[in-house]
Amino acid sequence: MSDMNTAERIRQELSALAKFSATEKGVTRLPFTKEAAAALNYLDKLMQEAGLTTYPDASGALHGLLQGKGSQRFVIGSHYDSVVEGGAYDGIAGVVCGIEIARHFAPQELPFSLEIVAFNDEEGVRFGGGFLSSKALLGELQPEELQNYRDTKGISCYEAMQEAGYAPERLSEAAWDKDKIVGFLEIHIEQGARLYKEHLPLGLVTGIVGMRRFDIQLTGRADHAGTTPMTLRADALAGAAPFILMAQRAARERKSPDVVATVGVCEVKPGTVNTVPASVHLTLDVRSLRAETRDAVVVECFNVLEESAADNGLRVSWQEKLSVAPVNMDEGLRERLRQAIHEENVSYMELASGAGHDALPIARKLPAAMLFVPSKDGRSHCPEESSRPEDFSRAVDVVIRMLEDWSN
Ligand code: GLV
Ligand code: MN
Ligand code: MN
Repeated sequence: MSDMNTAERIRQELSALAKFSATEKGVTRLPFTKEAAAALNYLDKLMQEAGLTTYPDASGALHGLLQGKGSQRFVIGSHYDSVVEGGAYDGIAGVVCGIEIARHFAPQELPFSLEIVAFNDEEGVRFGGGFLSSKALLGELQPEELQNYRDTKGISCYEAMQEAGYAPERLSEAAWDKDKIVGFLEIHIEQGARLYKEHLPLGLVTGIVGMRRFDIQLTGRADHAGTTPMTLRADALAGAAPFILMAQRAARERKSPDVVATVGVCEVKPGTVNTVPASVHLTLDVRSLRAETRDAVVVECFNVLEESAADNGLRVSWQEKLSVAPVNMDEGLRERLRQAIHEENVSYMELASGAGHDALPIARKLPAAMLFVPSKDGRSHCPEESSRPEDFSRAVDVVIRMLEDWSN
């Protein structure tokens, strides 16, 4: 494969990996499913073929190591899970780019090892949390906590891991020796339209929004929709409505593009035309570059929820599934990348990320940086997601240049 150029190889590999999907429409590759296992198997072969020594860990991540001199490591990675009916690039493109970088260095010996990681369950769509592997590698996740995360069928993350042949009780063994890691880098699609609109092939990430995610249950009472007077109802959906609208209003009122709030799930039971809704399951995802703003939006939403539940005679219960503070990317690594970008003569801009990434939890503990590649029309988390192989290849060249500069 050595005669094939990098862009073409990236295109072919991403297209092959997109086939490991549970849906025909877009890519659906949820954690601990057979699609995830098949993708991992493919990545394992790809890593080995590129000259890496591979090993899985208990979180379902795959690592590929290129041994260098000394005991220090530079880590490059992104996630291989996807959202439901997502695209062929979110996450997995960063893994493929990492493998390309390692392939370049395989014939030589760097002063540090390169560790390429395909992280599992970054998205959090199956169990409601997210950042499973990155948190496990940071030593921030205990096996017992995995019981708190359940999918829509009631299967806990712990059970799903066992079912897929992993040993969740050994999760802590996955933890990195952080003292040995000199830096972490993630290449990812932008998932917004700034680079695309500016016709720029590359973005250097300044920081990542902080996120909070909640699972909310509103319980009322099922009654006949024709015979139950309006005053005697405990309508869970009517009670949810002010909360949903408040999420939109509270975020909009901040008039800052980084402040966003989304109710992405609204499951109504029994969900029939002639029955008053007995219960509603909602999710809330709130983000901002400023933790105080994010938290203020959360408080406004929950105040309205409590009020509306009382007005409608509903019980409310909720669980916080994720809370990650906003982070800045490491200035030292950013400077190294700026230098490499100039040397490679690539036009770029610096921008913040509104999407979550494995680099978000990692940046709190290790020097971390990110490069963005443009997303066509800014579309992502949908089948239309599209980025150009030559832009990934340019990002790969920049990282190779940075590592070469670092080694000399
Ligand atoms: C992950 O893509 C997220 O930002 O939710
Ligand atoms: Mn995503
Ligand atoms: Mn992603």
